[in-house]
Amino acid sequence: MSSPAPRGETVRLEDYRPTDFVVHGVEMTVELFEGRAEIETTLSLSRRNGVPADAPLLLDGDELELTSLALDGETLSRSYYEADPSSLRVEGLPASGAFTLSIGTRIVPETNTKLMGLYRSRGVWCTQCEAEGFRRITYFLDRPDVLAPYTVRVEADRAAAPVLLSNGNPVEGGPLDGGRHYALWHDPHPKPSYLFALVAGDLDVLTDSFTTASGRPVDLAIYTEKGLASRAAYAMDAIKRSMRWDEERFGREYDLDVFNVVAISDFNMGAMENKGLNVFNHKYVLLDSDTATDTDYAGVETVIAHEYFHNWTGNRITCRDWFQLCLKEGLTVYRDQRFTADERSATVERIGSVRGLKAHQFPEDQGPLQHPVRPREYKEINNFYTATVYNKGAELCRMIHTILGADGFKKGMDLYFERHDGEAATIEDFVRSFEDATGEDLQQFSLWYNQAGTPTLAVEERFDEGAGRLTLSLVQSLQPGAADTGTEPFHIPVRFGLVGPNGADMEPAAVSGAEVRGDVIHLRKARESVVFEGLGARPAVSILRDFSAPVTLEMRQSEDDALALSRLDPNLFNRWRVLTDLVGRALTAGVAAARRGTDVTFDPKLVEAILASVGDETLEPAFRAQILQLPSESEIGRMVGSDVDPAAVHAARESTRRRIGADGAELFAKLSEAGRPSGAFSPDADSAGRRALANTALDLLTAATGDLTAAERRFRDADNMTDRLAGLSILVNQFAGSAEAGAALDAFFRRFEDDDLVLDKWFALQAGVPDEGTVERVAGLARHPRFNLANPNRARSLFGSFASANPLAFNRADGAGQRLVAEVLLDLDRLNPQVSARIATTFRSWKTLEPRRREKAREALTWLAGRPGLSTDLSDIVERTLR
Ligand code: PHE
Ligand code: ZN
Repeated sequence: MSSPAPRGETVRLEDYRPTDFVVHGVEMTVELFEGRAEIETTLSLSRRNGVPADAPLLLDGDELELTSLALDGETLSRSYYEADPSSLRVEGLPASGAFTLSIGTRIVPETNTKLMGLYRSRGVWCTQCEAEGFRRITYFLDRPDVLAPYTVRVEADRAAAPVLLSNGNPVEGGPLDGGRHYALWHDPHPKPSYLFALVAGDLDVLTDSFTTASGRPVDLAIYTEKGLASRAAYAMDAIKRSMRWDEERFGREYDLDVFNVVAISDFNMGAMENKGLNVFNHKYVLLDSDTATDTDYAGVETVIAHEYFHNWTGNRITCRDWFQLCLKEGLTVYRDQRFTADERSATVERIGSVRGLKAHQFPEDQGPLQHPVRPREYKEINNFYTATVYNKGAELCRMIHTILGADGFKKGMDLYFERHDGEAATIEDFVRSFEDATGEDLQQFSLWYNQAGTPTLAVEERFDEGAGRLTLSLVQSLQPGAADTGTEPFHIPVRFGLVGPNGADMEPAAVSGAEVRGDVIHLRKARESVVFEGLGARPAVSILRDFSAPVTLEMRQSEDDALALSRLDPNLFNRWRVLTDLVGRALTAGVAAARRGTDVTFDPKLVEAILASVGDETLEPAFRAQILQLPSESEIGRMVGSDVDPAAVHAARESTRRRIGADGAELFAKLSEAGRPSGAFSPDADSAGRRALANTALDLLTAATGDLTAAERRFRDADNMTDRLAGLSILVNQFAGSAEAGAALDAFFRRFEDDDLVLDKWFALQAGVPDEGTVERVAGLARHPRFNLANPNRARSLFGSFASANPLAFNRADGAGQRLVAEVLLDLDRLNPQVSARIATTFRSWKTLEPRRREKAREALTWLAGRPGLSTDLSDIVERTLR
């Protein structure tokens, strides 16, 4: 039976089977009115070969009202069907041949606070269908392996909605009686229902055009709320650069006459790749220098690219079922990372991605919410849009690239596009394309998709001076975790270099042991060694260059070697990595010292090495800023691993910041002023890097001096949001409760009161202040007139920031922080289960806390789990977190 599992029941990969019926085409008429929408959907269907003639058609629904039902144009009698809000079952359908089923539904977009299906955001009608939102618009076989071309007619009041959009190409439009009008859209590319989209409203537009490599002209448009279209200019530029890049790097062209993007205020995620009509959280479209930071610019560029790249990896080739989600998401993240590397800086991009992976994916992979990149089962698919699927999924694509080389990777991708265009594919299809294109055996590699957890890679080196022989022994291990998916050895590509005294990579005369191809060791067994012969001097071993595999590296490298690498390694990523590892070790020791109440000490040689790199003007400013950016308190907590006391973590980190600030005072004073870009604001990567370096320097300098005047000046004199927010953040974080911080916050609020995206920053900043009193301040801000739990960005800016970026206050010893979040989650769950479930994942590391705080977390979670009527989204997260 291919019947859908009811909500909240476990869905299993092994149970996959195709639908009984095939959908050949979808025609929809959507009539929009104040207070309701009337939808008529005509499906062209046929029974699949071999399916019994009496098998009923079972369609998914969710909170639907059926208003009519007709078979081949004839109203169906009640005895042939059963309908309820979540399903429609039709009997007596033709045994063979094509037929049509016309389904009328009525919905109320105005009361749709889940923001799934058709809803209204600031009056604009818009849709979100991934993963299972289409069934909230009409009854359908709402699963990604049901592909069909769509024709959509939208009708609405002309004044309320002069703009009427759907997927594909515009066909026609015109006036109707009663002040109404219509538009007809046709999408010729067969697509799954999760890519359906419709937007209608009174919107402004920014237009442009693009000509593809083969000469197809494409009309580009970005629609925004009234008055904001000029803020879409950078996003428009990013669209055109993405289109060109995909042609040049992956040979992929755009395939419709129009490409439309709409920026929406109320959106559950970042953005959505609907065919020809991408819908975005306006945070990832709208920018100008006065309201957006450099980080925001980079975010817009990445998300625009990501959604555009989905046109091939996701839309043209989609997923057979939701277990294959990483097929589109991991690959598309990988592609957007390569784009950023090309457009900005490969090293800085890699550092940023690895930082993100360690901050978000590692704790997921090492805690109760652990799951493989390709999950085997789920209760609620919404909860699997995770760092593991997206970011570890991207790492797996990168490893395939590392294993096959650029050429082999390209051949494999080309074959994948050629073979599976227009299909709903699986991970096996993807991997097989690379195998068939190159002859490489990737069967062992495929374990990465199926076994959860972060493997540990332990590396030891031995050098025989007399013989000039270096032996590396590599041991991989994987601890069984919550997902319980096995611990077989992986195929791990370990990129490396042997750095000689002059900083160049040394070439050994001979290599034996584990397979080495070029600069990559292919580790396949639990333990293997590699022997390098004929080395004239002892090299410093640069291991896991560019973080060539998502593992926890354990290497007891001498401090001297590590420090030498920090100056000399030709692989810049690893210069950052060795320093970060040393800092990490020092910080964990510092946390232990803080807990004992002894002084936190920091190796002067390490400070010196950090300052040497930061002061090295031959290096990119953005890279130097990364070196100066200490791991976050959450990240330090993860490194400590168990019995974590967030107060000790905070103390150790702050004392380290003061120490680096004091030792580097002279350099930082110089960088903080002279290092800033001059002239008019430009968001380019180099200018952004200079601002990042200057502002990080100012932050550390202020931590050392305790003098707030420079930060106040940066805030006051700023001509852009990056500097303004940097100054404000120093004031608010380092001088919490001071009159100066309060005045700056008020001034900021008054100036940007009418700008929601900036107000989100104002809320987030205050929620992140590392001070125990932040719990009460956050509770107070939740009563602020501008707070609105129903807007996902606002809810996340206050409570998401508090719970994810403020471990000190969130885990306050009396449990008040965790309790506050648990109570809000309950309220939020009634409005928007997806957003409440997402914020609830911030509890995922509760078991690593020291006993008292752990007990408080358990109490908050247990209380929440016991509330009646939780959504399947939230209860799934809470139950797995507690288990
Ligand atoms: N598919 C979207 C992306 O990653 C994310 C998304 C998932 C958006 C589910 C909405 C709902 O590009
Ligand atoms: Zn995506």
